[in-house]
Amino acid sequence: MQPDETVTILDLTFTPLFSEQKVQARVRELGTALTDRFAGQKPLFISILSGAFVFASDLIRSFKGDCEVGFVKLSSYKGTQSTGSIQTVMGLEKEIAGRHLIVVEDIVDTGRTLHYFLNLLEQQRPASICAVTFLRKPEAAAFPVQVDFVGFDIEDKFVVGYGLDYEGWGRNLPGVYQLSAG
Ligand code: IMP
Ligand code: MG
Repeated sequence: MQPDETVTILDLTFTPLFSEQKVQARVRELGTALTDRFAGQKPLFISILSGAFVFASDLIRSFKGDCEVGFVKLSSYKGTQSTGSIQTVMGLEKEIAGRHLIVVEDIVDTGRTLHYFLNLLEQQRPASICAVTFLRKPEAAAFPVQVDFVGFDIEDKFVVGYGLDYEGWGRNLPGVYQLSAG
């Protein structure tokens, strides 16, 4: 079922893009694909906070196998615009060397965040790195990033829901909503 209600957050109006059911079905598919790909490898999921926490929590529960989960907090966004610089607000406490890493991101927009973070991880000699993003905006790509699994490719419009926020609001929406034109 497609949600038909628009959502207002602060000064902006958003219209439904993906229903909760559609999101859940896709995340289960990604979990199954990761289960196959990492069978017996005991991967370490690294969730990029804050936006990816909802996606990561569903994704790890659809991963059937032993795994660990860690978190980093990176921040580059203010309002609906990227600020152009990335801050590490909280670092990873797990040992990375020799591990199979699955990096979990909410959305790849310009690619700056993931480009920066994957390079950082690379320097710590993991066994492998796999990048998974819930959403990707191909038209906004400005940095080279190899993303192995993508939930949905979307238009270059600001979205909220399923962990993604506008000024801190909207993360708890179970579906995804897109900024209305005008
Ligand atoms: P990038 O570094 O330009 O790829 O931007 C990635 C980060 O910006 C994501 O992890 C999000 O936190 C944030 N972001 C990018 N696009 C959106 C959006 O449409 N809605 C909410 N947050 C976004
Ligand atoms: Mg984010």
